[in-house]
Amino acid sequence: MALKNIAIVIMGASGDLARRKLIPALHALFLQGKIDTSSIVVGSGRTHFTDEQFRNRFGGTNSFQKQLYYHQYISGLKEFIASKGEFSKVVVFLSQPPAAYTPTARELLAEGFGAETSIVIEKPFGYDYRSAKALNSELEACFSESQIYRIDHYLAKEAVRNILVFRYANSIFYPVWNSRYIESIQINALETDTISHRGNYFDRAGIIRDMVQNHLLQLLCLLTMEAPVSLDAHDIRAQKLDILRTLRVDECHRFQYSGYRSETGVKEDSNTETFAELKLFVNNFRWTGIPIYIRSGKAMHRRGTEIGVRFKSLPKLLFNAKGELKENHIIFKIQPAEGIILDLSTKIPGSDDNLTDTHMNFCYKDTFSQSSPEAYQKLLYDVLKGDHTLFVSAKETECAWALFEDVLNRGELYSYSPGSRPPTKFDLNWIEFDNYSSLCL
Ligand code: BG6
Repeated sequence: MALKNIAIVIMGASGDLARRKLIPALHALFLQGKIDTSSIVVGSGRTHFTDEQFRNRFGGTNSFQKQLYYHQYISGLKEFIASKGEFSKVVVFLSQPPAAYTPTARELLAEGFGAETSIVIEKPFGYDYRSAKALNSELEACFSESQIYRIDHYLAKEAVRNILVFRYANSIFYPVWNSRYIESIQINALETDTISHRGNYFDRAGIIRDMVQNHLLQLLCLLTMEAPVSLDAHDIRAQKLDILRTLRVDECHRFQYSGYRSETGVKEDSNTETFAELKLFVNNFRWTGIPIYIRSGKAMHRRGTEIGVRFKSLPKLLFNAKGELKENHIIFKIQPAEGIILDLSTKIPGSDDNLTDTHMNFCYKDTFSQSSPEAYQKLLYDVLKGDHTLFVSAKETECAWALFEDVLNRGELYSYSPGSRPPTKFDLNWIEFDNYSSLCL
């Protein structure tokens, strides 16, 4: 169904995010007929552009270009929008540095934007618990929580959206998804890129703020949350929040790649981690005692995000009399290839009872012909529809920050070489995620 009569405003429209993600996503939604021509896109910012100049920055089809307008500054924006038609909804995307969120929200309010308006923001939502709480209350002084959409683009990844489906649409997994059968859960998110030109931002953040506190914690919630009462955003977020409230960080090790301190924008004596590994526990009846490991880092030997669920070992009986059988694993491959792999022990054909490890693979590329929609297309479409499911609530962000209070920038900082495999200080048999990297490609 095509969405009608929406004014979509991009604040900071001359920036990189608008050019790389937002405008192309909106262009695609118009082309697919998901937004119809009764809706418009208005760029706004400090820079002066005519409509023509603004349109020329992006290319795209003529029909889409006709929907694009530009208005400098917030003052007069309301009137400008009204001069283009009648709109039942205004969606304002704050494609700006986080320090601008509160001032912009205040200005929008002063300009007369009210109940018809939604505000969309990107991480970071604060820098720690205190700043996140302050940001939330400043924004809520202008717009209510139901008008605010906090993007975590991991929630829009197709393979991430499949986690709840896998857990709750398959009767064979639901009964074993608990501490009785599962030994550990391991979340592995590696990138080959160094922090290169992002030194100014990254050096103040570090990998725990950049990846773990938001994206990877969201994965953890989806993997461990109880079944929501319904698929409504409110019910799903309530279950995620319950997990965040019962989580605790048990151990955290921080690492920095050698050469990091010479990157542009990085302090010479920087104590910022570029790789971290953490052990967490969810203290509820389903998960008590089961460790959940998260590790993530820059400048690693390969790029890949995977989740491994390791099941408990069999008793030392029968085929496992010598205790040599591998545990079963379920591997969720999130990126670059998408799929779910089940590890099994099977008999090698022949007269002997020799066993081997095999994989049962479900690969998106072999199963589905359509490609996954780009994350921003999905996210923008949901905001326009008013669906909060893939967005993070104020309480979730605050709880997620509170969790890391004791480990942010604390503890020893170990070193690793760029391009190396993930270092570890845990006495743990990490799942060999590299063994799955070529599957489903
Ligand atoms: C961003 C982080 O939120 O996510 C980046 O700021 C990181 O540092 C990126 O590289 C990873 O996203 P993706 O979708 O490439 O895994």
